[in-house]
Amino acid sequence: MSEAQWWQKGIFYQVYPRSFQDTDGDGVGDLDGIRQRLPYLADLGVDAVWISPIYPSPMADFGYDVADYCGVHPIFGDLSAFDRLVAEAHGLGLKVVLDFVPNHSSAQHPWFLESRSSRSNPKRDWYIWHDPAPDGGPPNNWISNFGGPAWSLDPASGQYYYHAFLREQPDLNWRNPQVRAAMHEVLRFWLKRGVDGFRVDVIWHLMKDPQFRDDPLNPAYRPGEPEVARLLQTRSTDQPDVHEIIAGLRAVLEEYGDRVLIGEIYLPVERLVTYYGENLGGAHLPFNFQLLHASWGAPALARLIEEYEGALPAGGWPNWVLGNHDRPRIASRIGSERARLAAMLLLSLRGTPTMYYGDEIGMENVPIPTDQAQDPWEKNEPGLGVGRDPERTPMQWDGTANAGFTTGRPWLPLARDHATRNVAAQSADPHSLLTLYRRLIALRRTRPTLQLGSYLAVGTAGDVLIFIREWQGERILVALNLGSDPRGDIALPAGETRGRILISTELDRQEPVQGGFWLRPHEGVIVALGEG
Ligand code: NOJ
Repeated sequence: MSEAQWWQKGIFYQVYPRSFQDTDGDGVGDLDGIRQRLPYLADLGVDAVWISPIYPSPMADFGYDVADYCGVHPIFGDLSAFDRLVAEAHGLGLKVVLDFVPNHSSAQHPWFLESRSSRSNPKRDWYIWHDPAPDGGPPNNWISNFGGPAWSLDPASGQYYYHAFLREQPDLNWRNPQVRAAMHEVLRFWLKRGVDGFRVDVIWHLMKDPQFRDDPLNPAYRPGEPEVARLLQTRSTDQPDVHEIIAGLRAVLEEYGDRVLIGEIYLPVERLVTYYGENLGGAHLPFNFQLLHASWGAPALARLIEEYEGALPAGGWPNWVLGNHDRPRIASRIGSERARLAAMLLLSLRGTPTMYYGDEIGMENVPIPTDQAQDPWEKNEPGLGVGRDPERTPMQWDGTANAGFTTGRPWLPLARDHATRNVAAQSADPHSLLTLYRRLIALRRTRPTLQLGSYLAVGTAGDVLIFIREWQGERILVALNLGSDPRGDIALPAGETRGRILISTELDRQEPVQGGFWLRPHEGVIVALGEG
């Protein structure tokens, strides 16, 4: 494994560009802001920045509705600002990964404007048009992921078009070779500009059932869940021929060497791992979102890690995601005490970690008053708790007004604790969560066992999760006490008599251990076995 790729050894950090750093006072973050903060990311020790969409867009879904795949929205800057960002990132040893949104465009994209202009337009077939059902209603029962029907009628041409998300986000027809070719050119446009890879939005949605059969009803649906959960999306997503499409994307990246293809996939593990593709020619990293849904007890975590490890195809490289712009903040999901354990788990498991901006300082969901909601999903299905604004609030840099994020009025409110919970305060605190992240990342870099070593399940002792990473004769044990009771009796594994605690989540221990060790409530430690 000494030939490991950068995306295997490295750590990814997701930036939601609207909320990272504003430089022009409009209350929305921009590319120059990200560029200014690159030294922070380099110092934190991450290897790659994934930036959520920056393209021209009417912002119906905050950039996931792309009106021009080869441009930059003026709110974020322009192509030369982007080039400066890439150059400076590379100068600091950081990779830049873009969000690629191929499943749907904006309804304002010139391709769609042409497509909807008439049934005979050459681009008609670039999108998914269908005659109405015999009763005049939508062609089938598919439901939009943001609630409501997934088909909208175009009265002028009398046909419906399909949109897995908003009606402002029509799905492209990936069965059309011209669409594929045009999208491959989009990838090349950015690859030539030096982009190091892509995170592909809803990659498992790209192909739909060619017969457009109904999705079956979900027998487990419970009232109060979002409407899309009424159906099992077995016809509208995850079709067998999606893998040819992904192999095609991958082949474009291969033209440029050392780039990474990451797929956004919310599927059960046994389906997820098919996205490595035949002979691993699919996504390098099909995002593994299990920690987003995990229940944070030792037995449940041990099971899900083993299930994932056991499902990986030979040679498939694992990865773990702790947070993103679509899910509640980790600190809000599991509480601030266990957020320290989550950091240690993410950075000591086998596989590429992906962090979400602000999680390293323990940012929490920020309650957004209903009348200030921005997220279209929240507006479509209010009151269900589906809104994603709470995890998209501005980064908290320092104790100044607006936390150093903007001189203007931030597009989403700042967290109430921003004066105390911020990068500057935590940088000065040797026991802060940020310091813990920095130290764990540094440890992962200096101990290749944590990057590349195999994973050996040791099991659980009550609510303590224990595993070992092993590489070239080095054995590193990770023990995480997820419970709120102290433990005085954690034995070293059979055959091991001594070790050395390299780091504790409390950042106050580095000591030799013999036979066993103790853990405080919610404490985790990383122990080099055999060292004293
Ligand atoms: C997944 C993205 O992460 C989410 O933010 C977006 O709303 C949908 N895809 C639609 O593009």
